[in-house]
Amino acid sequence: MIPVARPFIGEEELEAVARVLRSGVLAHGPEVEEFEREFAEYVGVDYAVAVSSGTAALDLILRAYGVGPGDEVITTPFSFVATANAILHQGARPVFADIDPATYNLDPERVVELVTSRTRAIIAVHLYGHPADMRPLREIAEDHHLVLIEDAAQAHGALYAGRRTGSLGDAAAFSFYATKNMTTGEGGMVTTNDRRVAEKVRMHRDHGQAAKYLHVELGYNLRMTSIAAAIGRVQLRKLEWMNERRRENARTMTGILSRVEGVEPPVEMPWARHVYHQYVVRVTPEAPLGRDELAEELRRRGIGTAVHYPRAIPDQPLYRRLGIDCPRGCPEARRAAREVLSLPVHPGVTVDQARWIAETVEEVLREAGERRPRRWAGG
Ligand SMILES: Cc1ncc(COP(=O)(O)O)c(C=O)c1O
Repeated sequence: MIPVARPFIGEEELEAVARVLRSGVLAHGPEVEEFEREFAEYVGVDYAVAVSSGTAALDLILRAYGVGPGDEVITTPFSFVATANAILHQGARPVFADIDPATYNLDPERVVELVTSRTRAIIAVHLYGHPADMRPLREIAEDHHLVLIEDAAQAHGALYAGRRTGSLGDAAAFSFYATKNMTTGEGGMVTTNDRRVAEKVRMHRDHGQAAKYLHVELGYNLRMTSIAAAIGRVQLRKLEWMNERRRENARTMTGILSRVEGVEPPVEMPWARHVYHQYVVRVTPEAPLGRDELAEELRRRGIGTAVHYPRAIPDQPLYRRLGIDCPRGCPEARRAAREVLSLPVHPGVTVDQARWIAETVEEVLREAGERRPRRWAGG
């Protein structure tokens, strides 16, 4: 079975972990500082602060900006739930704007409609590794004095108009969860050019310490371990290569799938470098098999798939219970939840396997089309 996601770990990561274990410095230490310095340089920002997860990164950014009760934060209804939960954790209210059906990212025209006097921030997610359209979002943020936050959990190394994701807003959150484009097992990073935000995040990840055992604010323990940082440093050196492998697999699959009726391969906007955290196709109503039936048939033939995500966030039981829906509706997010299917694209997939995966999708749909009773053509 070709899994839909798998971390790409080699001897160098094993050696890096052994080196840290032998050093005796397992928690916060020089490895973490070096990782922060290297990551900031890679992204092209002044500050990077390592934390324990992407969720922690989002929470700490919102907290650093003082987002809290009474505030509204506009974000996408089509993401991993952590994006919106970070807003709830601050006691603020997520306001969901619909997505652009081509990229699955926030549609700036839907965002501007939802700005009120209570809006404090926008969180744009670079879903699946394709950057959100940041320029119009930046204009909206400037016009209305809002904080613009990037959720770059799925977009390490993606480019927007030649600039790296993580350097496009006021602050950004990365995740290094096991299946991400680069991993530390669990881990996260905040990137920003704002010194005060970096200092706040640094303090709040570490019990509000300003100096050793001097606690000036209420914080948490959301630190990254040295072991995680050592793995991250090796993964960062491989990131460009791993992303190129993903892109090559994506090109191979798109070359085949663009001719298959009922399947829409992912797009890459002219201003974007997509890093294919996921390779996501739409299975449209024209397909002779439903999305879930196609997934089941692919599984039987040895191809793992996943649905990212089967529900829009406001359709999660938690959000239903809280009564938080899309104020102007979000038909595109809900349609995406019905139609998307992720195929394996990770660097462990060879180009031959990528070709085989796409050809198998084509074959399964062709066979289903042949089995389907022909519609009466009239006459
Ligand atoms: C878009 C998005 N935001 C936030 C997160 C949260 O990251 P983590 O799992 O590291 O807490 C994830 C990943 O899982 C994600 O995909």
